[in-house]
Amino acid sequence: MRELMRTTPNLFKNPHRRRNLAGRLIWRIAWGLLFRPTPWFMGAWRTWLLRRFGARLGHARFNATAEVWAPWRLEAGDHVAVDRNVSLYNAYGIKLGDRVIISQGAFLCSATHDYRDPCYALAGGCITVEDDCWIAAEAFIGPGVTIGKGAVVGARAVVVKDVPAWTVVAGNPARVIRDRVLREVPPGNPMNEPLT
Ligand SMILES: CC(C)(COP(=O)(O)OP(=O)(O)OC[C@H]1O[C@@H](n2cnc3c(N)ncnc32)[C@H](O)[C@@H]1OP(=O)(O)O)[C@@H](O)C(=O)NCCC(=O)NCCS
Repeated sequence: MRELMRTTPNLFKNPHRRRNLAGRLIWRIAWGLLFRPTPWFMGAWRTWLLRRFGARLGHARFNATAEVWAPWRLEAGDHVAVDRNVSLYNAYGIKLGDRVIISQGAFLCSATHDYRDPCYALAGGCITVEDDCWIAAEAFIGPGVTIGKGAVVGARAVVVKDVPAWTVVAGNPARVIRDRVLREVPPGNPMNEPLT
């Protein structure tokens, strides 16, 4: 290892620009003091705070234990719920559509390292979760992956390839286990009424 460090002096150099490092330091302090200690009912405050740091959010709610690496690289639509211990590592950006649920402990990981490069250059791609998706507990979503509209990712799935719309995927590596077919919502059901 020592030999590797001597011949490749940049091996442990942080690849991020100073502006990014400074921004993340300030965000991390704000997260620790103003986001993480807040009780469950202060979701609107947490959304407001993320917006102040550049997140483009509709009506989205984040649990106090959810971690966002860089809010200025996060987009989310309306009726989005991000649950306990979710980690959004959005070095390359993360886009969440409308009516998206991210369950407990899921890890959306937009960056990786080029292991052919002796300096492990940063690599990756934006993760897109389209409308009406559910990412179940402790799923891993890899860099550059698109989860197609209406898809469900099962608990603890490892997803490194795009997921087709309206399918349910599970396992490691994640595979389609069935199509997702929605039931009719009966008339008179409040789900049919507009949200006021
Ligand atoms: C993915 C999921 C929604 C699928 O539910 P389902 O359609 O009822 O699927 P089934 O239970 O009928 O299972 C179908 C097959 O997929 C497998 N499977 C289901 N979920 C799986 C998972 N998470 N990982 C690996 N395999 C899974 C089953 O073993 C079964 O395999 P078989 O056909 O060889 O017997 C569900 O299993 C799941 O992961 N739920 C998430 C729960 C969660 O995260 N809750 C926290 C938020 S409230």
